[in-house]
Amino acid sequence: MQSKLKKEEFGTAADGQTADLYTISNDRGMEVKVTNYGGTITSITAPDRHGRPGEVVLGFDSLKEYLGPHPCYGATIGRYANRIAKARFLLNGREYRLAANDGQNHLHGGRKGFDKVFWEAKEISSGENSALLLNYLSVDGEEGYPGNLSVSVTFSITENDALKIDYWATSDQSTVLNLTNHSYFNLSDRGSRDILDHELQIDADYYLPIDREALPLGATREVAGTPFDFRKSTPIGRRIGEKDEQLLFGQGYNHMWVLHGRGETPTHAATVFDPISGRTMELLTTEPGVQLFTANFPGDMFRGRNGAFCPSRGGFCLETQGYADAPNHPEYPSTVLNPGEVYRQTTIYKFSA
Ligand code: BGC
Repeated sequence: MQSKLKKEEFGTAADGQTADLYTISNDRGMEVKVTNYGGTITSITAPDRHGRPGEVVLGFDSLKEYLGPHPCYGATIGRYANRIAKARFLLNGREYRLAANDGQNHLHGGRKGFDKVFWEAKEISSGENSALLLNYLSVDGEEGYPGNLSVSVTFSITENDALKIDYWATSDQSTVLNLTNHSYFNLSDRGSRDILDHELQIDADYYLPIDREALPLGATREVAGTPFDFRKSTPIGRRIGEKDEQLLFGQGYNHMWVLHGRGETPTHAATVFDPISGRTMELLTTEPGVQLFTANFPGDMFRGRNGAFCPSRGGFCLETQGYADAPNHPEYPSTVLNPGEVYRQTTIYKFSA
């Protein structure tokens, strides 16, 4: 297999910064488009059961639309994916105050997170394969976080038709870090119908219950006997409408599942099967958690491709990450990055039909 990289102009923002669109493709019908604005995946096409390539993520076709309001379609999220309570945390005895952009809490890196900055792009090659490397220097104090943080994200297509995202970061001061990608998948149909029939399996016995502000309450809770039990493959919509307090707080699924293992090499975390297209997506990661978010927005809130409104629950996110609000929960696995240490995370999305 050979993967190629193509570059085209994507647009110019009001401040004169320009974005390009990079297409990584192989000769088996897999194609991934990424723009250096927000480190955003704008499109993934993968073959269906008849071998026909089709779109499997929500997104737009122009930079202008990405510059407008949207719920982080496909973006690289940082410095901290998910919420940090009251937009503050203590680190080495010092309090850091962050931007409060979700009520009184901090969400997905703040007002101008990694999803809203221009990354520097480079083509990298190994043998016959080309991949895209994005670099960004987040300066000390950006959005309230300490340390000059140097971040790299590599997007590549593997031998077996998987999109692999490798993250790497170092900092010159102790800081907290939790990177993820915020793609909304819809394996059927460019997002024109909801994803409630998609069948999901997650390798998790526990999840993090949340409060009304979607912050984790603290202790993990067993999934057994609840609508959060996806240990066996289950349609996402089977129990989403139940009168369960957790589903009411999340207005559907908006919770982090505790994965079985965290390690240096990515291991299986979840599998999603779409009975309509016959596509399967397997998710592998090095991270300890995965946030399932079922796009619980009203159907007239966000547009998608071709200007059409995305239906409510028109996509699902599986955001691999450290625990939500870990900087305020010493009992959670640490998300602190110290000088001299290297942050690494790898997540793989493997498509088959
Ligand atoms: C969060 C949601 C939020 C969405 C868009 C998800 O990861 O958990 O609460 O609405 O991202 O920002």
